[in-house]
Amino acid sequence: MTSYRVGETLITGEDLRERVSELAAEISREYGDSNVLVLGVLKGAIYFMADLTRELDIPFELDFMAVSSYGSSTTSSGVVRILKDLDTPIAGRRVLVIEDIVDSGLTLSYLLKNLASRGPESLEVCALLAKPGRGHDQLVRYVGFEIPDVFVVGYGLDLAEAWRGLPYIARLEKTPSDDGL
Ligand code: IMP
Ligand code: MG
Repeated sequence: MTSYRVGETLITGEDLRERVSELAAEISREYGDSNVLVLGVLKGAIYFMADLTRELDIPFELDFMAVSSYGSSTTSSGVVRILKDLDTPIAGRRVLVIEDIVDSGLTLSYLLKNLASRGPESLEVCALLAKPGRGHDQLVRYVGFEIPDVFVVGYGLDLAEAWRGLPYIARLEKTPSDDGL
């Protein structure tokens, strides 16, 4: 069985705090005084969402959806299931989706199609991380950081529920004992 360990830090806690403040300022400017529904995608977005919304300078409400895309593996299955839906209708509302990371974009495309069919006034996405070259530019309005195409954990991101609570973002490494297996 493959085992993993936390490797090199890609984004420090300080970098996260700085960038989150910048994003909150940008979002506050652009949304003005419209009451935005901030929609967190569980569970990976929770730390990002908590930090970001505490710095928003506009009226907002919170809601959550839970979707499952990866199960407990590190590659996308392409199969997306809604595990928890929104508590409220979004017809006529401004909706800002908060995602932890956009990798293949499969999860997000599915989610956006589903949400768009409910008739929101506007629908935009803020993702903490995005991996390059995956066509997320059309899907995501606000991106915290672009990262290389590696698997990362921390600040909400997990592998099979582990390492979410790290206060920084690190690359996940296979342990050396598994090399060549
Ligand atoms: P996508 O459908 O390939 O874009 O994958 C999106 C979802 O997969 C994210 O919301 C994460 O939950 C998970 N994911 C993708 N890449 C990573 C990663 O590097 N670390 C942890 N989770 C990831
Ligand atoms: Mg996950």
